[in-house]
Amino acid sequence: MQKKMYITTPIYYVNDVPHIGHAYTTIIADSAARFFRLRGYDTFFLTGTDEHGQKIEQSAKAKGKTPKEYADEISAKFKELWDYFDISYDKFIRTTDKEHIIGVQKAFEIMYERGDIYKGTYEGHYCISCEAFFPESQLIEGEFCPDCGKVTTIVKEESYFFRLSKYQEDLLKWYEEADPILPKSKKNEVIRFVEAGLNDLSITRTSFDWGIKLPKSINDPKHVMYVWLDALLNYITALGYGTDEKLMHYWPADYHLVGKDILRFHAIYWPAFLMSLGLPLPKHIAAHGWWTRNGEKMSKSKGNVVDPKKVADAYGLENFRYFLLREVPFGQDGDFSQRALIDRINSDLSNDLGNLLNRIIGMSGKYFDYEIKSSDLEKYHKKEIEEIKNITQSLEKYIYDMKFNRYLEELWKTLSIANRSIDFYAPWSKMKEGKTDEAMATISLVANILAKCAILLYPIMPKTSSKIADALDFEINQESFEKYIENFEYLNNFTIKKIPPLFPKIEEPLMQETKKEPKKEAKKETKEEKGLISIDDFLKVEIKVGTILEAVEVPKSKKLLKIMVDLGEEKPRQIVAGIKEYYNPQDLIDMQVCVVANLKPAKLMGILSEGMILAAKDEDGLTLISPQKRKKPGTLVK
Ligand code: ME8
Ligand code: MG
Repeated sequence: MQKKMYITTPIYYVNDVPHIGHAYTTIIADSAARFFRLRGYDTFFLTGTDEHGQKIEQSAKAKGKTPKEYADEISAKFKELWDYFDISYDKFIRTTDKEHIIGVQKAFEIMYERGDIYKGTYEGHYCISCEAFFPESQLIEGEFCPDCGKVTTIVKEESYFFRLSKYQEDLLKWYEEADPILPKSKKNEVIRFVEAGLNDLSITRTSFDWGIKLPKSINDPKHVMYVWLDALLNYITALGYGTDEKLMHYWPADYHLVGKDILRFHAIYWPAFLMSLGLPLPKHIAAHGWWTRNGEKMSKSKGNVVDPKKVADAYGLENFRYFLLREVPFGQDGDFSQRALIDRINSDLSNDLGNLLNRIIGMSGKYFDYEIKSSDLEKYHKKEIEEIKNITQSLEKYIYDMKFNRYLEELWKTLSIANRSIDFYAPWSKMKEGKTDEAMATISLVANILAKCAILLYPIMPKTSSKIADALDFEINQESFEKYIENFEYLNNFTIKKIPPLFPKIEEPLMQETKKEPKKEAKKETKEEKGLISIDDFLKVEIKVGTILEAVEVPKSKKLLKIMVDLGEEKPRQIVAGIKEYYNPQDLIDMQVCVVANLKPAKLMGILSEGMILAAKDEDGLTLISPQKRKKPGTLVK
């Protein structure tokens, strides 16, 4: 029977347009899927979008759209990009799909009937940005999210809980026995977290609507499901769990690819849910590191994201794929820069691979009219062949560990053997000396190395590899993999074709930088430019209209008032402002003001301040800045 493979990416939140972080996960998964297909596995590759929850509801509201309209729009952007990138997914799931919703409700029902879900009250902190609950003890300074640093909100509401604590021992046993976490270095992190003790997990919310309702049988319509319960179940509902189960034979997943930010959800909650459902656990959860810009995690809220489509359009999609996979060891962070990308293209692709192919095309044409026939490989190149065999036959294990970087690094060793062999055996001298057989053997050796390389590179650079195969007159498929890699046969006859260079050298960055990369010699600002900021800099500041709901004096302070401002958000902002000398607190109530809404929260005299109210001050005193007409709280000032 044909072996199966089931590979997944996270389903991405629709509050964020795709950036290279998302492209990275998806491209790793795509490369793995292509590799497994090439190896003859019956492969199912899933991606999609995560569309429920408070964060999406808020983002939609901020854009004046319904959550569904908003989700439709952004989900389509992900799908379009993956199609544009030729991502070979077999299904694109949306958590708003009817089948998913039915499957999730079915799962909830089963967990409930099993006694793993009970009703209680949740009281504690919630980070909307991470859609995660945190016990007080884990917060930074008692209120900031330990994962993203944003202010958490206090939640006290009726909630259903999942008995996560019940699965603690089984989880620990699973990490040890099945060893599912990749890279292995992340395993201990997860184990320590679980050993510290698991609390039961709040899995429903009542304070907003945008989520999956509980099953009818439970009859509690004010609750919606916690978005992570909903989201994780996509990996089985995509196979028809709870509806038409005809793809369920792909379960369990062989590889859940995720970023390290969401390893905990996949390595702790997800297997516990599965245990409760009585389903087998995933074989691997593989967590990669973050792409950063100048050392900071790329994310929409930091405004430092790189658009993967722009990169692919400027540098070539497959070059970009190669770079992403080659540049960083799996699990580690990597800093994105055009410089690093250009270096990879020029040195690895253009020099090591492209030039080698050109030389072979050139020499085979010049000396042998493009017909390479040699059965003397072993006779003249035994040593090189042994080396190549060792390398190519030990590559596969890196893919099973998702170590594409090691895989490519090793693969490139075959190219350096090829390049070295040309220089060392110098076919042009052999031709002069009349040793035609030897010259032919060397060219055939190198052409064979290129052929093997093209097969092995195919999952990462499918089109480019196919062009190489075309120039060397063979095809890349499951059979040729078995023949030329697994059984290490040679191609004895080549009719070589001339093709244009595959990797033109790149001299200068091809994209304009939105945010400056720090350069040693920063361009000197002219006098006129000094003190000026770009429109991009300005747009980073979010100024919003707010209505003052409450204002009280800060005890023991001459200057400060504590003000609650409605910015059209779920709860009012608390802002500490130095305006006591100019305003009576009661005069401020209901006044509209302009607030810098995306300032990092700070503490003034021990009181948290989540923004800044704009004011103008001259020798006459201070006045707050109000819009001329009343505006909806939360309206952007531009
Ligand atoms: O977490 N570097 O969705 P999300 C590398 N909906 N990868 C990055 C990255 C970066 N700077 N930024 C994002 C969610 N990613 C949930 C998942 S799954 C059942 C639910 C990638 O839109 C990486 O794979 O925040 C990360 O785990 C994922 O995007 C988070 O995407
Ligand atoms: Mg995220």
